Amino acid sequence: MVGAMNEISRPNNLDAHWMPFTANRTFKQAPRMLARAAGMFYYTPDGREVLDGTAGLWCVNAGHGRREIVEAIQQQAAVMDFAPTFQMGHPIAFQAASRLAEILPAPLERVFWTNSGSESDDTALKIALAYQRARGQAQRVRLVGRERGYHGVGFGGMSVGGIGPNRKQFGALLPYVDHLPHTHDLDHNAFTKGQPAWGAHLADALESLVALHGDTIAAVMVEPVAGSTGVLVPPQGYLEKLRALCTKHDILLIFDEVITGFGRMGTNFGAEFFGVVPDLMTMAKGLTNAAVPMGAVAATSQIYDTIVGNSPAGIELFHGYTYSGHPLASAAAIATMDLHRAEDLPGRAAALLPYWQDAMHSLRGAPNVIDVRNCGLIAGIELEPRAGQPSARAMAILQHCFDAGLLIRTTADIVALSPPLIAEKHHVDRIVDTLAGALRKAA
Ligand SMILES: Cc1ncc(COP(=O)(O)O)c(C=O)c1O
Repeated sequence: MVGAMNEISRPNNLDAHWMPFTANRTFKQAPRMLARAAGMFYYTPDGREVLDGTAGLWCVNAGHGRREIVEAIQQQAAVMDFAPTFQMGHPIAFQAASRLAEILPAPLERVFWTNSGSESDDTALKIALAYQRARGQAQRVRLVGRERGYHGVGFGGMSVGGIGPNRKQFGALLPYVDHLPHTHDLDHNAFTKGQPAWGAHLADALESLVALHGDTIAAVMVEPVAGSTGVLVPPQGYLEKLRALCTKHDILLIFDEVITGFGRMGTNFGAEFFGVVPDLMTMAKGLTNAAVPMGAVAATSQIYDTIVGNSPAGIELFHGYTYSGHPLASAAAIATMDLHRAEDLPGRAAALLPYWQDAMHSLRGAPNVIDVRNCGLIAGIELEPRAGQPSARAMAILQHCFDAGLLIRTTADIVALSPPLIAEKHHVDRIVDTLAGALRKAA
């Protein structure tokens, strides 16, 4: 009763929720609400259909409300809601790890469970440091990221990530972090289909960092395709070069595959798509189709054995989360991996890629479009910002699209698209038509 009174007496009931990565004041004046989801669509509280052009936040790869995943979660909740994984085990967490190991690119085969991409990234950085120490290279304490990289919001990922606004409110961050240059350059690469030909040499910046820091670098962390900063596609040969330089200088290479994992590239992982295998890989999002939060770090057995084998008896890695390998998340992960295999979602995405590429590049010439880029079932459409109003054009387009029944994602003045992998050609057409209309409206 008191709660109900409060709801009535407040100007709105949106006050309590401090929304993440959101302009709270603007949003709460004109909220965009999603109340229900099925397949390729969200539905607003008043029942309006909104095509999901972004798989939620790059995560609902198998489409919304998949019965198999829902039932797996329901059943597991009834069997055992929670059990600890510190000094105890439960079967489904082991089963999920074995299932994931089956699809990981060799020699990645050990799985550490987390609950999000941010936790996975911080976990991978900690494993990298622990590994260097365990093999007698304790001086390797430096972590190298890349400008415009996004590795979540923990102190590790935020520091190694390369996004100014994500860092500047938060003090001194981690010490001993350095960054490679990003690979995005419209002068050379605008309107490239797939991987640009120019830019592999930018990986050579690692040589300069090694010259500066000597043998103190523990690991380099990059996204194979940077998503959150506006879809930055790696130049041809760039990741290969980075891999070779890491091997040459005895530095671990970490791929953040939080977006590129689980079919998004038309392969299970970006590592397969690009033919470059890292030493550690981070995942989340598509792992459970986002139905229950879960993340993972995959490591080689060599890394696992070095840390576990070189420790004194007892706990080998002083790290973990209450919910690492949570039973509901493990059940969701297994059901999701089953769906991926049964429906060959990576293959399905791969089959759509030529159509996707042509459709996205048909937006070249639309008002204010200064670049279109694509890789896997991902596209970035970069816009000329409104004079003196960065992000305003993209936000106007996001609103126009939402009003017209399409969910897109924007970052600065870049539109990012990444539909569920069950998308069909007519969904792609609808994305293009709606976006083209929004671009005209916001011109
Ligand atoms: C590449 C990458 N790494 C890490 C993260 C962080 O994941 P989470 O929001 O689950 O912590 C994201 C989220 O978008 C991401 O795209």
